[in-house]
Amino acid sequence: MLEKDIEKVLITEEEITIRSKEIGAQLTKDFEGKTPLILGILRGSIPFLAELVKRIDIHVEMDFMAVSSYHGGTKTSGEVKMIMDLDTPVNGRDIIIVEDIIDTGLTLKYLKELLEHRGAKVTIVTMLDKKEGRKVEIEADYTGFPIPNEFVVGFGLDYDEKYRNLPYVGVLKQEVYMG
Ligand code: XMP
Ligand code: MG
Repeated sequence: MLEKDIEKVLITEEEITIRSKEIGAQLTKDFEGKTPLILGILRGSIPFLAELVKRIDIHVEMDFMAVSSYHGGTKTSGEVKMIMDLDTPVNGRDIIIVEDIIDTGLTLKYLKELLEHRGAKVTIVTMLDKKEGRKVEIEADYTGFPIPNEFVVGFGLDYDEKYRNLPYVGVLKQEVYMG
C-alpha cells in the first residue's frame, strides 16, 4: 500500500542487513575490550540502530538523543535544535553516534562538538551519506551506503513524519510532496 508512493527503491532490506553485519563485525573488532555507548539520534536512526546493535558482539550501552534540523519539509533549516539530551554521563566515554543520514553535516557537526566538549571520544556511524549535500566539513567513520543527492524515505527516514516504517530506502514520487 505504501509502495504506491515510491518512485524507486534505492537500498533493499537485504542490502541493509548485509551491511549492518559488516559494520557490526568491524565495530566488534575496533572496540574490543571497551564498552562503548551507542547513541541513537531520534527518530530516524531507530530501524538501522536495531539492525546494527544485534551484530555487535561486545558489551555496549545504549542511550538516545533528539535534535531537529528539519521542520516538516524536504529542505534543511540550517539550524540544529536540541529536543532531548541523553541521560548517561559522557566524560571519558567512547560514544558511537548512530545516524540515519548525513546531508549538510550540520546535525552531526553540532553533536560531535557538543559531546567532545563534554569529554567524550566520538565515533560516527551513518546508514546513508549524501556527500553532495555537505555544507560543513564532517565525515562518518563508518558508512552504510553513499547515496545521490535525492530526498529519500524509509528505514527510519521520513517525509513529514511518515514513511519511517518502510522496510527499504526509496525515493518518493514527486506527486506525494507536490500535493
Ligand atoms: P544534516 O543536513 O544535518 O541532516 O546532515 C541530517 C538530518 O537531515 C534529515 N535528512 C533527511 N531526511 N530524507 C529524510 O527523510 C532525506 O533525504 C534527508 N536528508 C537529510 C535527517 O533527519 C537527518 O537526520
Ligand atoms: Mg534525523
